[in-house]
Amino acid sequence: MEIILFSALLLSLVIPLLLLLRTRTSSNRRLPPGSLGFPVIGQSFSLLTALRTNTDHEWFEERIRKYGPISKLTLFGHPTVFLHGQAANKFIYTCDGNTLANKMPPSLSRILGKKIIVELNGEDHKRVRAAIVSFLRPEVLKTYVPKMDQETRNHLDVHWRGKREVQVMPVMKVLTFNVICSLVLGLEEGTIRDKLLSLFQEMTRGLLSVPINVPFTQFNRSLNASSRLKTIIMDLIRAKRSILEEQKASGHQDLITHLINAQNENPNLTSDDEIVDNVVGLMFGGYDATSSLIKQDGIVRNKAPGESLTWDDLTNMKYSWRVATEVLRLNPPFFGSFRKAIKDIEYNGYIIPKGWQVMWVSSMTHMDGNIFSDPSRFDPTRFEQQTTKPPYSFVAFGGGVRVCPGGEFAKMETLTMIHYLVTRFTWKLSLKENSFGRDPMPVFNQGLPVLVSPRKHYHSMT
Ligand code: HEM
Ligand SMILES: *[C@@H]1O[C@H](CO)[C@@H](O)[C@H](O)[C@H]1NC(C)=O
Ligand SMILES: *[C@@H]1O[C@H](CO)[C@@H](O)[C@H](O)[C@H]1NC(C)=O
Ligand SMILES: *[C@@H]1O[C@H](CO)[C@@H](O)[C@H](O)[C@H]1NC(C)=O
Repeated sequence: MEIILFSALLLSLVIPLLLLLRTRTSSNRRLPPGSLGFPVIGQSFSLLTALRTNTDHEWFEERIRKYGPISKLTLFGHPTVFLHGQAANKFIYTCDGNTLANKMPPSLSRILGKKIIVELNGEDHKRVRAAIVSFLRPEVLKTYVPKMDQETRNHLDVHWRGKREVQVMPVMKVLTFNVICSLVLGLEEGTIRDKLLSLFQEMTRGLLSVPINVPFTQFNRSLNASSRLKTIIMDLIRAKRSILEEQKASGHQDLITHLINAQNENPNLTSDDEIVDNVVGLMFGGYDATSSLIKQDGIVRNKAPGESLTWDDLTNMKYSWRVATEVLRLNPPFFGSFRKAIKDIEYNGYIIPKGWQVMWVSSMTHMDGNIFSDPSRFDPTRFEQQTTKPPYSFVAFGGGVRVCPGGEFAKMETLTMIHYLVTRFTWKLSLKENSFGRDPMPVFNQGLPVLVSPRKHYHSMT
């Protein structure tokens, strides 16, 4: 009797265990290669370190050399499938939202907000995207040129004029932030804007930190900064709404006014919380990504330290968006992105299990010698025949239904700034070593110092 009971007990324990092992091994066979590493943490620290020291490219290359274009690992608490290559880019950008959903790593979504567009899916994404895109359309953008121009000139007056050496990097970041404040928030110079800038900078410092929310961690300070930043923006929305109600004006000067007007027509369009989170999102996209483009223009790469920059340089180089595009190819502000598998997905003979994170390094195709010959050479002419480039190979702005809607905005801002910089000043690079890291966008560790002197005809810019 006892023996029967014992064997029954043993069987009841062993059978599920055997079944578990069987399902494990059978699904394992179809999982991509690679080790999941230490539970929860996995390879997170190693990747974060690579991102901070700007060796992420080498990190990705090493991984691809070891396992090929598809592999598995653990990042930020989630089992993750890593993807690389033009085919992978195409697969991600053409996948529908019922297969792959947008999901940022927790450190990013907790700091930036749950209602930010890059966290939204399906109908919510469509609705918020439509609101943002209507503000970033070229026809509307044209009307911002005078404001952008004014901001740039004020900025040069304050930060560049009368100085001998300027740290281009931090100063450019301030300018792109001011342009965003002016166009998105309708907020002119002053103490509120300065306050927003310092909170914003504190907030972004934690985006690549380990998400542990206890006092004295960067993550805790960033969460604090984020909630104070959002309180100020919420107050701005309320103030603007009451002004609009009194005046019954239907101005479309800034994004907030634009969205409040849209709310009046259809209250379901965007909630105030959504406006706040997406304003922060636009600050992030418009500030970090764009400023990293401006400071890394091709001029810097082609010049020896101490050599002057002239307008001729630019015209000889036929400075245009093509140059900027080549800059973005070599130094994409976003190395790739994250999604989440909504169901089991078959890809290239492997299974991406439901619930797993997907991380793809879209911009690694920029360095593929089969697509871009001699890929590390700076050569804007490679974009002259755009049509010869295979689709989903140049992806600095992403692709598909989530392609960056801010490209034209970034273009306008960059060209305005470059125009004033080269027509009003001569530059000399005083950089000793061209070293940069990430915070989380590429930054020059020494702030990219340049010696500036105003041109003769530069009397007053205002
Ligand atoms: C050089 C500058 C910029 C670059 C390289 C860039 C790049 C990107 C990329 C790669 C994505 C897609 C991410 C993904 O698929 O997960 C994206 C999305 C986005 N970008 Fe940009 N961006 C830039 C400037 C801007 C600016 C100036 C704005 C707004 C003023 C902006 C607003 C957005 C928004 C709202 C999204 C989310 C779109 C969606 O999820 O539907 N970006 N950007
Ligand atoms: C942020 O930190 C300050 C000072 O450390 C504190 O007074 C404030 O209550 C915090 N705010 C939030 C929203 O946590
Ligand atoms: C910072 O950490 C403390 C302790 O865990 C917590 O009470 C506080 O809310 C955190 N701050 C934020 C802004 O989350
Ligand atoms: C707004 O949403 C409510 C509830 O979901 C719905 O009853 C109403 O018809 C919607 N209004 C508009 C204008 O779409």
